Amino acid sequence: MEITLNYPFWDVGIGYGVLMAIFAVTHVFVSHFAIGGGLYLVVAETAARRKNDTERLNFLQQLSKFFVLVTVVFGALTGVSIWFVIGLLNPAGTEVLIHNFVWGWAIEWTFFIIELCAAILYFYGWQKISARNHLTIGWIYFIAAWLSLFIINGIVTFMLTPGKWIETGNFWDSFFNPTFWSSLVLRTGICLMLAGLYALLVASRYKASDFKRRLVRYNAVWGIVGLVITMLSFLWYVGAIPDTIMTAAIDKMPTPILSIRAMYVYSGGIATFLILFGLILPRAYHTVIGIGVMILGLAWFGSFEWFRESVRKPYVIYGYMYANGIDIAHADLYQRDGYLPHMAFRTGDDGADLFRRSCRSCHTMSGYHPLRPIFDGTDKEFIAGMIKGVHVAKGNMPQFLGTEGEVRILAAYLYNKVDHRHLSKIYSLSGAALGRKVYDIRCGPCHIFGGFNDKSASLIGLNDQEYNDMLNIADDLGEEMPAFTGDEVERKALIEYLTSLSKGGTP
Ligand code: HEC
Ligand code: HEC
Repeated sequence: MEITLNYPFWDVGIGYGVLMAIFAVTHVFVSHFAIGGGLYLVVAETAARRKNDTERLNFLQQLSKFFVLVTVVFGALTGVSIWFVIGLLNPAGTEVLIHNFVWGWAIEWTFFIIELCAAILYFYGWQKISARNHLTIGWIYFIAAWLSLFIINGIVTFMLTPGKWIETGNFWDSFFNPTFWSSLVLRTGICLMLAGLYALLVASRYKASDFKRRLVRYNAVWGIVGLVITMLSFLWYVGAIPDTIMTAAIDKMPTPILSIRAMYVYSGGIATFLILFGLILPRAYHTVIGIGVMILGLAWFGSFEWFRESVRKPYVIYGYMYANGIDIAHADLYQRDGYLPHMAFRTGDDGADLFRRSCRSCHTMSGYHPLRPIFDGTDKEFIAGMIKGVHVAKGNMPQFLGTEGEVRILAAYLYNKVDHRHLSKIYSLSGAALGRKVYDIRCGPCHIFGGFNDKSASLIGLNDQEYNDMLNIADDLGEEMPAFTGDEVERKALIEYLTSLSKGGTP
């Protein structure tokens, strides 16, 4: 049988999301820093040379050491490690990126090498080469760095909005995809902002003086201009994401909204500090403020990346491949034969293999996003129902495409790992409190009162008979809705809980 799931699975103890966040976040911070810093250095150096401002030139020389170190050492290391990590976490997704972007990638590396060489020459050239040549090298550094962003931006935005590429498979459709330009402007804004914030931090260590006043104001303007570009282009960026993607994400998860809210709060904080201490009271720009604003800037950036990742769920390449590496193009094949016959690497434990392929990239049993507490005290039938309906639950998860037989195997595997005592024993609950637990576990993944797919209009204000009738036909209420398989005690408790609620879902 044709092998389509080509890679083995990496069982790493730490959550995939956490691991990715650690590497991706450090790399994006550093790389955007390096680009913004490049522009800051050449623009500020040009101005300082024109005025023959040696104080400023000394400051810039000191600053360039950090930027160069950051680009050469940290940028290069984290940049390589990020591809290494995604290659391990999602080899199938990484393969798609490599096949499609191999030349883009090669070009990016060329720019990066130019950037590295120019950075080193710029740093060592302060006293050794003419002002003109030094500035030229500085510009080469910045332009090469920005062009590498230009390339990588095409690859990153492709993952969220592959656009026409899904049908055409054309490189240019994938590269200049619907969010390419807005994201490029947005990221350029971030570069300016971070450069300004870092330069402010360095300036904050100077003693209150006229020089400090000028320097802090100048740097604050960089931060503010960057922030304004960033926030405006963020609106453009969100508008460029197709409505279907946005609605699906917001409907099933609070994360996109929470991250946008966080971005507004952080940008409000940054703006306030920059205006107050950067423009109005520049002499008082203390290191504590410098560190605080810097942290706000990084938090802002983190929220943006968090937003981008959460909106993309349940896909790694939207509409093309799920986050767990299952490719949609072979959906028919999986629905017909199941996943197992198409796996290149099988361990002999089919349940474990199915768990790895379909859930393990986002859940562990008892560590990161644990499944055990979700299924403790339930039964095989319910677990099987949840697997079949996983794509309509909250959390925006990939559909389980395997066969009915595989659903049973996976359900048995999960059931073997959970607590088999009665819910009332596990949580020491009875009456309406137990009923609430039953609701949270057996209904809560798909219906939240006052929230995701709320069913309070149908669930509140019935009599015992009506509740019983509804639970008897639960699996007929929706295609993906599981039958009610709780025992009599759970059923009575659930009805008691539902009866205790008034309209709107409040007790
Ligand atoms: C792409 C990542 C991803 C994959 C793959 C995934 N899940 Fe989830 N799942 C999540 C996230 C994130 C949540 C948390 C949602 C929340 O708390 O709002 C979640 C929540 C759930 C819930 C609801 C829990 C609750 O709090 O009510 C269940 C049940 C569940 N997952 C089961 C599964 C099963 C079974 C599989 C494999 C067949 C699976 N998931 C695959 C990301 C994923
Ligand atoms: C795996 C997800 C899932 C679980 C778990 C689940 N449901 Fe549903 N439910 C659905 C789907 C899908 C529908 C039909 C489409 C819709 O209305 O969203 C539905 C429909 C319903 C409806 C009827 C439609 C309506 O609008 O009145 C009711 C009532 C309901 N569910 C109650 C419950 C109760 C009570 C539980 C727990 C015992 C439960 N559901 C568990 C997915 C689920």
